[in-house]
Order: sequence, then C-alpha cells, then structure tokens
Amino acid sequence: HAIHCGTSNPRARDALRAMAAGDSLDWFREARFGMFIHFGAYSAAARHEWVKNYENLTDEEYDRYVRHFDPDLLDAREWARSAKDAGMKYVVLTTKHHDGFCLWDSKYTDYKSTKTPFGRDIVREFVDACRAEGLRVGFYYSLLDWHHPDYTIDFYYPRHQGLSPEEYAKLNKGRNFDRYLDYMHGQVRELLTGYGKVDVMWYDFTAKREWTDKPYFKMTGDWRGEELMAMTRKLQPGVVVNDRLGDGVEGDVWTPEQTTEPKWPERNGRRVAAWEVCQTFSGSWGYNRDESTWKSPRQLVTMLIDACSKGGNVILNVGPTGRGNFDRRALDRLAAIGAWMKLNGRSIYGCTEAPAEFAAPRGTLLTYNPKKRRLYIHLLEYPVKLLPIKFADRVEYAQFLHDASEVKMSRPKDVLGNVKKGRDVSFALPVVKPEVEVPVIEVFLKP
Ligand code: GLC
Repeated sequence: HAIHCGTSNPRARDALRAMAAGDSLDWFREARFGMFIHFGAYSAAARHEWVKNYENLTDEEYDRYVRHFDPDLLDAREWARSAKDAGMKYVVLTTKHHDGFCLWDSKYTDYKSTKTPFGRDIVREFVDACRAEGLRVGFYYSLLDWHHPDYTIDFYYPRHQGLSPEEYAKLNKGRNFDRYLDYMHGQVRELLTGYGKVDVMWYDFTAKREWTDKPYFKMTGDWRGEELMAMTRKLQPGVVVNDRLGDGVEGDVWTPEQTTEPKWPERNGRRVAAWEVCQTFSGSWGYNRDESTWKSPRQLVTMLIDACSKGGNVILNVGPTGRGNFDRRALDRLAAIGAWMKLNGRSIYGCTEAPAEFAAPRGTLLTYNPKKRRLYIHLLEYPVKLLPIKFADRVEYAQFLHDASEVKMSRPKDVLGNVKKGRDVSFALPVVKPEVEVPVIEVFLKP
C-alpha cells in the first residue's frame, strides 16, 4: 500500500496519506460535527464506562451487567434521527470498549450482545439506521481489553494498578499477548468486512510515556499498529482513521479529548490536516446517572463554533441509558443544538478558520467559508447597538444568518453629515438580541 512504503520524509508521507485518504478528509472536514455513542454493559452500572477499573470490580462482579444486558428501548433509528436533527453528519459507536464486551456478533468471542438476554447485533442495527438517515458511519474500537484471557495485565488493568514490572511479569505468565493481537486484528477485520462501508475508524488508545511515571502499560509498538493501519486502509479505502494507534502510525485526524484548543493544532511546526475534539455533556462517556455537571446548550454551541474557528471538528458524545435510549438531559441539549444548527449551520459546515486579515471583533469568534468566500461573525457577547469592525472596506453585504435580515454599517458622522476620519466603522445591531443562542452575522466579501 503506497502510504506504508515507509518514507521517512514527513512531508512526503503527509502527501501520500492525503492521496490515500483522497476526498474522504474533505467530507470529514466539511461535516465539522459528529456524534459519539458510548454504549455497553457499563451503561447499566450508570457510573462511568471505566467503572470496572475505577471500582476495581472482579470479572464476576462486572459480569452482572453482561448477564442482565437487555436494553429494551434501544432503537438505532432514534439514535440516528437524534444525531441528524442535532445537525451532526456522522456517528461513531463503541463496537467494543475497554471492558471487552462486543456489540456485534463476533465469531471470535461469546462476550457479546448476541449472547445476552438482548440477543441483538447492535452494530448491524446502528449501521443500517445511520445509512437510512444519510449519516456517515464510524466504529470506535478499544485496543485495550479487560476481558480477553491473553490480554496482559498492566497499569490500566482493573485491580492491578501500580505493581512493579516484575509483579506484572509474574501475573502475565501464561498470557500470550500475540494471541490477543491476532484476536483483535481478527475482530477489526470482521468489522471492516461485515458491515459495508465504514467511514471512520476510531481506535482507542495508546498510552504515552509522558502521561505517567508508572512502570508498565501498553505503548507505541505494542499493537502491531502499522499492520492494523495498513489492513484498515486496505479493507476500507478512503476510511478516515484517528491518531491513537501510537507514534509513527500515521492517522488522518488528531484527537484531543475534552479540551478547548488555543489555536489550530500543529505537529512538527505545521498545522494538522484535520482534527476533532471529542467532548462529553458532563464528563463521563458512558451513561452516568448521578453526574450533574452538564454543559449548557450555549456552552455546547460555543464549543462547536470555537473548534470550527480553528479548523477543527467536534464529536459530541451521548451515553444511552441501560435501556438503550437517550435520557432527557441529552435529548434537551441535542434539540437546542439542533435548533441553532438549523438556522446557523451555514457558518459551520464547510467552514474553517478565517484568513488572518480579518481580526475578530471583541466578544466574537469568526469562521469562514473559503468556497463561498463568506465570513461569519458569531456574537458570543451581544453588544449595545454597535459592533466595530476593522475590515469594513471588504464588506459587500451583511445579514443576520438566522433570518437573512440586513445588517447595515454605521459610519460616525459629524453634524454636517460628513464621515469622521479615523473612526471605526461598525455594524449597526438591533438593541434586542435576536432569539437564537448565539447570533451570527453573515458577511459577503467583496471580490
Ligand atoms: C479515552 C477513555 C475512554 C473514552 C475515550 C473517548 O481514552 O479511555 O473511556 O472512550 O477516551 O475519547
């Protein structure tokens, strides 16, 4: 495969990668907004998807959630419709999380949804539903596995934190990690061949030495990552792959987690081609009943604008309940985002960072559509009457985006009606803030 011909020149490698990904990165960047779905046996515990680790549960204790797995309200069409109505263009589902429990009928294991009281292949239903709603399909797949007997116990393994390398070695006698890797690669092959076109592959995760000084965990080189990446691209040409297979295994998308990036992220001094920040409503990815730190619709909309203003995507997570449906808190927020996107999506889809010549007026974030050459001013703070701008000579026409009502410019004049020199031109705004979460001014630029 061209992209793995092993060139060490980063520029050449980037170019090859871009060619291999072809226009797949284009759709991804234009989409800007996706949904993450974290669903699994842990959803019934309802206290974080890492519950097995955080609470040091034994296999037997954890398997209560598998034995009783029966999300009777799961309707993948409803998941997909909620994503679509919120303005999302792609959805990524946890096919397997760190607990090892699989949401599809994998031939390699019995630890799967089809072997529970529920008995259904959730991945299949998910793919069909997304396709029916015109959404791109993505698979999250955990490299970690706290269930497979050959997965070696390490620092991140439940009930075994903080041991010495010697202790780990002793515990892992008889565990054959290569056999686990065969299993994992086999499962990925299943996912990439059994469900039609896969648009996004989201691997999670490879630890980094700088995260902790603890002695032992899996890092770059431990997953046969290059082989996995090559297989991924071969089986699904054009698939968009994230960056979590380890250093040197080049993915397409840089994936910061639950942060606000200060600017368009760079690697080796150059802006990354694509990035996607993954975000939660309230901190945990799996359904968490008692978590009450939910972000407001306004914060969520701002998050999306902010990422777009720096050339990035947002993938916003929903953790369906143990019954498989979205809870009220999630639905309310998705609806609010959807209401904003319906009227203002033009400032997000196909948009990116504004050219440097446009300085963002105070209290605003800018995005820019390079194809249409339109600038979008997002009014995070709503000023009284006047919004001074530095680029008045570039403005051909301006309007509020939500209702296409003209926004006129106002130039300070003296008593005789002569335009005062050296004073900023402003957009003249109505006193009352329009009834949208964040109002947007759409500026048509002069050629
Ligand atoms: C992490 C966590 C995980 C979550 C993921 C989402 O690395 O381990 O639980 O699925 O990030 O980005």
